Amino acid sequence: MRIADKVALVTGGASGIGLGTARRLVEEGARVVIADVDEDGGASAAAELGARFLPLDVRDPQAWQATTDRIVAGEGSLDIVHLNAGVLTPVAGKLGELGAQFDITQLLDEDYRRVTNVNVDGVVFGARAAVRAMAGRPGALVATASVAGVIPYGGDPLYAMTKHAVVGFVRSMAPLLQPRGITINAICPGVVETKISPSEAFDLVRSFGIDVMQPAQIADAVVQAVTSGETGQALVCVPNKAPSKPVFPELDITGRT
Ligand SMILES: NC(=O)c1ccc[n+]([C@@H]2O[C@H](COP(=O)([O-])OP(=O)(O)OC[C@H]3O[C@@H](n4cnc5c(N)ncnc54)[C@H](O)[C@@H]3O)[C@@H](O)[C@H]2O)c1
Repeated sequence: MRIADKVALVTGGASGIGLGTARRLVEEGARVVIADVDEDGGASAAAELGARFLPLDVRDPQAWQATTDRIVAGEGSLDIVHLNAGVLTPVAGKLGELGAQFDITQLLDEDYRRVTNVNVDGVVFGARAAVRAMAGRPGALVATASVAGVIPYGGDPLYAMTKHAVVGFVRSMAPLLQPRGITINAICPGVVETKISPSEAFDLVRSFGIDVMQPAQIADAVVQAVTSGETGQALVCVPNKAPSKPVFPELDITGRT
């Protein structure tokens, strides 16, 4: 899908990867709506970019419907949706504790609910509202998963679970959306310097010899996902390389060979 003159919605667009994508989509000529729970950050990002801001908690299905209804009423259509808002699992109610090791015996119910509600419900409710809003017109959905959606990640197994869910959802939905002319792809970044973790966490990552990416690199992959026409892909983004596609096994489940 071409981006110029299209209407694009970016969740979690107040910060980090979402902000980078919103900026890039504006540069490509889209009319961009940023949606986020961070109302101050979202409003100032939108003002800076010449975009529109709508407050949205992606966990809330009614709010999703109201948001997409408002966009279609105000802009005439909804063509591109970046389902990007996401969080790490808080440890004992606290986010971003350096060196805190995941211990399932200490897991709080509310921490589990938070990461699954934002990272999984937010994508599913968002995809539903977006496909309804596309109403038979072509469209492009891109979900931000993670490399933790294709490889194990012991640092935060619940986060890894949610991102595997996103990749499985995208790959399973793609053939179902194809007859509607809607593509759906996942972006799977490695480490990107954003507000998802405290800055010391990125210093620590660098001290292990791992390069840290900037959001603009991930925005390039989102643009590739929207414009390539491909669907059902998981685009892995690692430093200093073009996005790559992991090879998923082709399994014969018939038991007959
Ligand atoms: N930074 C990384 O290293 C990295 C790597 C792989 C994947 N990701 C994924 O990228 C996405 C964006 O994260 P980021 O790194 O840019 O972090 P970030 O914290 O900078 O941005 C996330 C944005 O999402 C918003 N948000 C959080 N909960 C929300 C909710 N319930 N409803 C609406 N908005 C909500 C936040 O307010 C924030 O503006 C996430 O899905 C994250 O899992 C990040």
